Amino acid sequence: MKQINAVNDLLSFIQLIKQQNKTIGIVPTMGSLHSGHDSLIKRCKKENNITIVSVYVNPNQFNNKNDFLNYPRTLDADINRLKTLNCDILFSPSDKEISKILNPNFKLKLGNLNKYLEADNRPGHFEGVINIVAKLFEITSPNKAYFGEKDLQQLLIIKQLCLQKFKNIQVISCATVRNAGGLAKSSRNKHLTEKELIIARSIYKVLNEVKKNKLDWSVKKAKDYVRKYLNNLSINLDYFEIIEIEKFSFTQEINTNCNYYAMIAVTIRETRLIDNLKL
Ligand code: PAJ
Repeated sequence: MKQINAVNDLLSFIQLIKQQNKTIGIVPTMGSLHSGHDSLIKRCKKENNITIVSVYVNPNQFNNKNDFLNYPRTLDADINRLKTLNCDILFSPSDKEISKILNPNFKLKLGNLNKYLEADNRPGHFEGVINIVAKLFEITSPNKAYFGEKDLQQLLIIKQLCLQKFKNIQVISCATVRNAGGLAKSSRNKHLTEKELIIARSIYKVLNEVKKNKLDWSVKKAKDYVRKYLNNLSINLDYFEIIEIEKFSFTQEINTNCNYYAMIAVTIRETRLIDNLKL
């Protein structure tokens, strides 16, 4: 595996790859890699000649300073993991290197995607995500880019980014990887104690309970159920909503013609976790 930190070195490498007519896949990450990231990287390896994984904790997408300062950083372990996965290129730039790439100069039409849920709860977050992902796309010109369904709203926004600005890049969505108890793998799980890791399983549990009862419960009943269940466990519910995926709009009732997702964000002590489930 080649580790590249400088933007110019990466650009030279990409030029070489393109001359050889090889395909490039990219997996953007903020490091602290876990088996959720692994699944994206393995798929990328299968579908492309060259796999680039970026590790960069992007300060611009954090709307909470402590969250940024406490975000787990485990570059040495990440390097070992990426070597085991036979990753071709690790791009791990500094803030200074990233600032050498021109800021993208466009505005996306995102409608509800930039209005509700994470957009509403984390002002500026998606602007930061779009900025860094566009910069990475700009310098790597990948054929395919891999994103996880765990961050569903982010995935839908990146799909729009490609539809509107990077038409040659295919976005590949990858299923959420969970631990044996159902908790979605997340770098932030490292902040949880053993006991908290166990109560955090109830996030997936309530999503499944809502799925099981989707045709019998009203949306209000589902919301009341989730709030009460999590409250009893001292899990702070930031939001629980059922959205219709095409319009990314809240729904008050479920009918069988549309595709719905249950979307949830909680805080356990100081750690914020998100998850979702297709109903
Ligand atoms: P990060 O949280 O490191 O996630 C990198 C990628 O891994 C994202 O596409 C995310 O959806 C995916 N991922 C995380 N946990 C997963 C899981 N349990 N199962 C499947 N996929 C999972 O998301 C970001 O970084 C950043 O916002 C980034 C896109 C890199 C921009 O800075």
